[in-house]
Amino acid sequence: MAAVIEQEQEFDYQRADAIIEQFLGKKGMIIPALQKLQDEYGYLPRPAVERMAKRMRIPSSKVYGVITFYAQFKLSPRGKYIIRVCKGTACHIQGSPKIAERIQEILQVEDGETTPDLKFTLEEVACIGACALAPVMMINDDPHGRLSPDRIKEILDSYE
Ligand code: FES
Repeated sequence: MAAVIEQEQEFDYQRADAIIEQFLGKKGMIIPALQKLQDEYGYLPRPAVERMAKRMRIPSSKVYGVITFYAQFKLSPRGKYIIRVCKGTACHIQGSPKIAERIQEILQVEDGETTPDLKFTLEEVACIGACALAPVMMINDDPHGRLSPDRIKEILDSYE
């Protein structure tokens, strides 16, 4: 609780308010407003979400319901590099669980988590359409295929 209060006290509401104001009094604006807030912050900080709910006079539970329904919305900061490890069938057969395991071991994060330095976010995803290169991962827009666990460290180290 103390952490939440502290987060709210330190939060710069000006940027959130400027966005929220564009949507006040309009119908069906929850999703566009959340998209704009996420574009602004890179994720949806809870103080901004609470502020939006309050100013739009919507129960915050409803706003969180929308956020959790749509995979595009993120409630925690994301890394500079998003690692998407494919867990589709072809990749699974070719050993993607071992790839994900190796990344988790090196970065000390689980699926969906971000490293404390905000460098990497790990996401395990469905088929990314490059099955011929299985097992595959994307780091931002870069595909890395025919992976083996012993190549992972070198690949991650190549991202500054
Ligand atoms: S199953 Fe991994 S790219 Fe298709």
